[in-house]
Amino acid sequence: SALFGPSRRNSGGLDLSSPAVLAQLDLALAAVATPERSAPIVDGRERENQAAKPVLDPADHRRVVGEVVDASPADVEAALASARAAFPAWDDLGGEARASILERAADRLEADRARFMALAIREAGKTIPDALSEVREAVDFLRFYAAEARARFSQPVRLPGPVGESNELMLGGRGVFACISPWNFPLAIFVGQVAAALAAGNAVVAKPAPQTPLMAAAAVRLLHQAGVPPQALHLVPGGPAIGEALTVNPLVDAIAFTGSTATARHINRLRAAMDGPLAPLIAETGGLNAMIVDSSALPEQVVADCLESAFRSAGQRCSALRVAFIQREAWTRIQPLLAGAMAELSLGDPALLSTDVGPVIDEASRRRLLAHGGRLRHAGRMIGQSACPPDCRVGTFFAPMAHQLDNLDLLQSEVFGPILHVIPWEAGRLEQVLDCVAATSYGLTLGIHSRIDATIAQVIARARIGNIYVNRTMIGAVVGSQPFGGLGLSGTGAKAGGPNTLIRYGVERCLSVNT
Ligand code: SER
Repeated sequence: SALFGPSRRNSGGLDLSSPAVLAQLDLALAAVATPERSAPIVDGRERENQAAKPVLDPADHRRVVGEVVDASPADVEAALASARAAFPAWDDLGGEARASILERAADRLEADRARFMALAIREAGKTIPDALSEVREAVDFLRFYAAEARARFSQPVRLPGPVGESNELMLGGRGVFACISPWNFPLAIFVGQVAAALAAGNAVVAKPAPQTPLMAAAAVRLLHQAGVPPQALHLVPGGPAIGEALTVNPLVDAIAFTGSTATARHINRLRAAMDGPLAPLIAETGGLNAMIVDSSALPEQVVADCLESAFRSAGQRCSALRVAFIQREAWTRIQPLLAGAMAELSLGDPALLSTDVGPVIDEASRRRLLAHGGRLRHAGRMIGQSACPPDCRVGTFFAPMAHQLDNLDLLQSEVFGPILHVIPWEAGRLEQVLDCVAATSYGLTLGIHSRIDATIAQVIARARIGNIYVNRTMIGAVVGSQPFGGLGLSGTGAKAGGPNTLIRYGVERCLSVNT
C-alpha cells in the first residue's frame, strides 16, 4: 500500500567508530567549558531581571555547564502580549513559507550537530548515542512538521456542495501556544512541541524544564536565526511558578505539555477554574510500561531488548520498560542471562563511548529511586545490579537494578529511572497478565516477545496502548514511522510525529460562499 504523508527523509546517523567524527565531538565537548547561558528571550532580546544560577553537569557536579536566569512573571506577560500581536502575521504567512523556515532550522541544527550533542551530554547526562538520537529526532520533527504544514496548511481544502455554492475548509493556527517541556528530551521534545505549534501557524511561548534550560535557549536562538520572527517565539525558563503563570494567563489559547500525569491534571484544574478561552491541552505524560514474554520467545533477544528498553537513557524515557511479565519456563532460562548482562553494563561518564548508562538527572530523582530501591529490597528478590563507578559521588548516578515481584502492589505510579521489575506468570494465565496491565490505567508503550501469532494477536486485541512493539525494543519511536504517545493516564494525544498531529495544534474554519 502507498506510504502515508509527504516524502521526506529522517536525519542520518554518524559513524561513531570514525576518529574524525569523535575528534569533532571532543572539540565540541571542550567548547562547553565556555559556559552556556540561558535567559528569558522575549522579542529576540535576552532579559536579565533576576540573578543567574549555575547549571551543573549531572555526571560531575563540579563542572558548571552554564548559567540560567529564570523568567519573572513580567517576562511571561511581555512574551505573551508580543506573541498575541505577532500571531496573525505568522498565521497569514501560510504553511509553505513557515515550512521553508523550519526546514532551514533543521539544516542548521544538523550542521551544528556536534555542539548540540555536546550540550546534551553535559547538560542532561546523555550518552553519546543518546545525544546523537536527541539531535536527529529534533531535526526530524522540524522537517516532518514542515512537510505537514506545506501539505495541509497552505491551501484550503475544497469540499462538495450544491451548484451555486463553494465550500472550503481552511486550516490555521489557534493563536498563542504555551509549550511546556521536560528535561529527559531537552532538545527533541522542546523542538518537537515548538515546531508543531509554529508549523500550524501559532505563536509560541516555550518553557523548558528547569534542569535543562541551556539547550532550549540554544534552540530558540537557532530558530530565530533561521527566520522564525522573534515576536512569534519566546523563551521563559523557570520552574513550576512560571509554568503556572503561563497556564492561568488568558492570552494562552492552547497548551502543549509533556511531563507527569499529576502535572497534566494540575494544568487542567488551573485552566478549568479561570475565565478566558477554552484552551485545549495536548498532554503527553507517564507510563507504567510492560513487556509480555511467553515461553516461545528467544531468551537472548529478550535480554538484549530488556536491557535497552529498561536501562538506556538511564531508564529516563517515558517509553521505558518498567515491568516484564515473563512466562515461568522462559524466566528460568532468561534470569541468569539477564543477571550476567546487567553485571556487564558500564555506568559512568556519558562522554565516553564505552559508557552504557549515564547519570540520572538530579539528586531529587536519585533519592526517589533510592527510596523505591529500598522498598524493593525489603519486598522482593534482587535479580541483578550493575556496579557504580568508583567516583560516582561526583554526580547523580544510580546503578541499574532488576527485582522479581509477585504483583504490581509496589508500583502504583511511574518509577522514572533504571529499575526493572519482573513478574513471572504461569502458562494459561495470559488473560490475567493483560488484566494486570489494563488495571494500571496507563497506556503508553507495550512490548510483546513471542513466536506464536495467536498470542501476539490476543495481546494486541486487548491492549489499549499507544505504541505496541513486537519482538523488538520498546523505545526510540521514529518520527513519521512510529507516531508516539499514549492513552488513558499516559496522555491526551495528539501523538508526536504522526500524520494527525498538526491538526490538533490548529483550528479549522469553514467558508461557504453563495457564488
Ligand atoms: N519518544 C521516546 C521514545 O520513543 C520517549 O519519550 O523512546
